[in-house]
Amino acid sequence: MRALLVILAACSAPVAQPREAPPAWQARESGGTQPIDPGTTDDTLLDAKGCASCHAGIVKQWSTSRHAMAWTAGIFQREYAVRPQGWCVNCHAPLTTQQRDLDGERAGQGVDCATCHVRGGKFVSAKHAAKSPHATVVDPSFGSPAFCADCHQFTFPVLDDGNAIAMTRHPMQNTVASFAAGPFAHERDGCLTCHNAHTAAGGHDDGMRDAAIEMTSCMNGNTVEVALRNANAGHSVPTGDIHRHMFLRVWRSSAPESMFQAFFGRRFEPVADGGKITTWDSTIAPGETKRFEIPAADLRGDDDEPINLELVYVFIENEFPRREADHDPSTASITRYALMPSASSAAATCGRSAMR
Ligand code: HEC
Ligand code: HEC
Ligand code: HEC
Ligand code: HEC
Ligand code: HEC
Repeated sequence: MRALLVILAACSAPVAQPREAPPAWQARESGGTQPIDPGTTDDTLLDAKGCASCHAGIVKQWSTSRHAMAWTAGIFQREYAVRPQGWCVNCHAPLTTQQRDLDGERAGQGVDCATCHVRGGKFVSAKHAAKSPHATVVDPSFGSPAFCADCHQFTFPVLDDGNAIAMTRHPMQNTVASFAAGPFAHERDGCLTCHNAHTAAGGHDDGMRDAAIEMTSCMNGNTVEVALRNANAGHSVPTGDIHRHMFLRVWRSSAPESMFQAFFGRRFEPVADGGKITTWDSTIAPGETKRFEIPAADLRGDDDEPINLELVYVFIENEFPRREADHDPSTASITRYALMPSASSAAATCGRSAMR
């Protein structure tokens, strides 16, 4: 039997295929081991401000995005101050032309127009409009999940003096893989089904964050039943940065010490090859529902006292940061409301996250 398999395998040995050229936007291996070379130092291609005379709407959308703040945002700068590694810069101010002066205006534009749209000194896009003045290179895979994966899907690096000299096998940001394994994987527009590439609204956007999770809760007899469903995200929630997490909290005001709390996030442990493996993942997969049954008695307090529920989204490691002088908040409350204990134990009283 084994011999036969070997023969079959030999017979179906692949015929040498012509190697496919890499997509026009691809400038490096994913994981940010290298910066992105735009292939030009011409400011008319590199400065986002200059695009505004003809693309005012897009420049406006982009300038409020987290992409535009990728280098300057308080949350990033607080972390970078602790780990000032060259590797970080390759995604947060990715262009070689930005990295010549990290205090300069161009680096301050973060993930800017040219980071996505300029390669080999030319514009790259999915389409080329007839009235466009640019000599645009068209690549239909521009904006595809593989394109976003250049920065949004990567494993832990092996670092040497702050530079990534190799990537391990262990996922660090897993957004594109979790999308590919989920129910939205076959949407024609990929990530752009839900995200506008220029506003790139996500966890920092009130509307996106609130829409992602459907939370329902019922007081069923003496039990609080809570269900959290990832209804509207194409990937796990939260996703992205390793520190992103959420807390579900259920408590009575007179007995905060008996609060029920559930954590939604990931934990990691170092391994021998220099990376870290995921030892815990309670993020909510696309379409998944997580249910909790909490005996009201465990919450203590008075029987007829309202029960508070809160879902909190935390952007960083620690909900209570060292400082927030830069006005970039580290948490956002998704929802907070109170359930009244039911008068009759037969009928369930329910609340929804829509009660903001
Ligand atoms: C003098 C006006 C003008 C300036 C300045 C300009 N563009 Fe354009 N661009 C156009 C027009 C017109 C089009 C085609 C219609 C459209 O999409 O708005 C276009 C299209 C594009 C496209 C789509 C691909 C294509 O060729 O159709 C991209 C990408 C683009 N511009 C990027 C930029 C970036 C980035 C900058 C700044 C570095 C910039 N443009 C500056 C006028 C301009
Ligand atoms: C994160 C990557 C990214 C950044 C940053 C970015 N773009 Fe785009 N851009 C895209 C994608 C993806 C598309 C294609 C959108 C689609 O097909 O719906 C696009 C499309 C365009 C188009 C074609 C017209 C349109 O609306 O589809 C223009 C023009 C353009 N971008 C200009 C800009 C300018 C100017 C900036 C900076 C202010 C910029 N882009 C920043 C990814 C980016
Ligand atoms: C060159 C690297 C790079 C590329 C390419 C890129 N991103 Fe990003 N993206 C980033 C970085 C860095 C951040 C984090 C910015 C911050 O908050 O500091 C980010 C943040 C985001 C966020 C989070 C916004 C929020 O509110 O929290 C979304 C959503 C997003 N990107 C979507 C996309 C999509 C969709 C694509 C593909 C069309 C894409 N990005 C391509 C680097 C990139
Ligand atoms: C079905 C809609 C949908 C699709 C498809 C989708 N997203 Fe999202 N995304 C969301 C929603 C809703 C949020 C806000 C909830 C959250 O922050 O997790 C979000 C948040 C994010 C964030 C912020 C990270 C975080 O957890 O705060 C990033 C980064 C992101 N998306 C990237 C992507 C990329 C890259 C793709 C494609 C591989 C993609 N998204 C596909 C709906 C979608
Ligand atoms: C391979 C690309 C890549 C590298 C390298 C990288 N990041 Fe990021 N980073 C991202 C992306 C993409 C996001 C957006 C994901 C999200 O919204 O959760 C992000 C988000 C963050 C955030 C959350 C930002 C916010 O506004 O919520 C912090 C903080 C951060 N990165 C710090 C760092 C630090 C510090 C390093 C170096 C030790 C680093 N990053 C290296 C791609 C990268």
